[in-house]
Amino acid sequence: MARYREYDAVKRIAVLGTGTIGASWCSYFLARGYDVVAWDPAEGWRERLTAFIDTAMPQLRDLGTAVAKEGALVTADTPEAAVAEADFVQENAPERAPIKQELYARIDGAVPEQTIVATSTSGLILSDLQGGLGFAPRLVVGHPFNPPHLIPLVEVVLGKATDPGAGAWAHGFYGHIGKHAIYVNKEVPGHLANRLQAALWREAVNAVAEGLASVEDVNAAVAQGPGLRWALMGPHMVFNLTGGKGGMRATLEQFGPPIESWWTDMQITPTLTDDLKAKLIAGIEDEMGDRSIDDLEHERDTRLIGLLKMLRATERA
Ligand SMILES: NC(=O)c1ccc[n+]([C@@H]2O[C@H](COP(=O)([O-])OP(=O)(O)OC[C@H]3O[C@@H](n4cnc5c(N)ncnc54)[C@H](O)[C@@H]3O)[C@@H](O)[C@H]2O)c1
Repeated sequence: MARYREYDAVKRIAVLGTGTIGASWCSYFLARGYDVVAWDPAEGWRERLTAFIDTAMPQLRDLGTAVAKEGALVTADTPEAAVAEADFVQENAPERAPIKQELYARIDGAVPEQTIVATSTSGLILSDLQGGLGFAPRLVVGHPFNPPHLIPLVEVVLGKATDPGAGAWAHGFYGHIGKHAIYVNKEVPGHLANRLQAALWREAVNAVAEGLASVEDVNAAVAQGPGLRWALMGPHMVFNLTGGKGGMRATLEQFGPPIESWWTDMQITPTLTDDLKAKLIAGIEDEMGDRSIDDLEHERDTRLIGLLKMLRATERA
């Protein structure tokens, strides 16, 4: 651990790829007082990034996440230039192994010796991306949730070539800047949280495929029901309370057998046929009504900020 930078010595963060996730990370790092040097290969990326930051910064100030001295944004013309003086790198290139591999090959040699590189990958296996890289021991998964400037969770996963000290550094650094980092101890497609999410979505899609409920009612079944508790505590803790005063033991005794039988009944994996896709799209369009994606993002972020404020105010001391 000693050979990596002290957290207080981190001043400048490189952000590679400034789409949905990269732009949100830029905003978060700036709000926390870090200078950000960003790079993206697309036409018009600077304007899109600035517009995103202009929307996100007031949210971060409102939430109390922003520090008094916010960082400054610099843009780079190449990824090599972006990382050259970076104390930490967050990579957010498209979710395609060849794209990430090519990018890593480009920056290998330019990443400073003590600098950790984190990839936001939602589900690629890190070990598959590390081959032949000089900075492979300092390459970790730092997987956020959309939008990373608001959602606290970051999953840290190590590849076979990752130095455990680098993983520990990244885990600690995310905590240091106000994120909630967890370790995922094995490399599996989708890490942990996306697998949990995908398991629920499989059932949600299957419910529509089987005609169990409409898209809108499936959404309500989560958002107006168990989803409210999941924002407060995870699924194991929720079930700890299901058993009343007897806690998890009572839950397992009383509800274990029926839930095991539901699991057996639930072993259907829906296929996303054209017909099913059309049903999902039509259902969501019905529910959206005249709201655009921008409207929904605004609604999500505004309500999320309110929820985060409430959660902070009522946090266990
Ligand atoms: N969208 C999500 O909900 C989400 C959540 C967590 C993590 N992620 C992960 O974040 C990463 C980025 O996803 P996204 O949703 O922001 O995608 P996106 O398509 O919105 O953004 C990708 C950006 O990368 C740029 N780009 C293209 N080629 C590049 C290259 N060679 N090097 C660097 N940048 C390049 C694009 O111009 C674009 O701006 C992916 O690994 C994804 O799995 C996505």
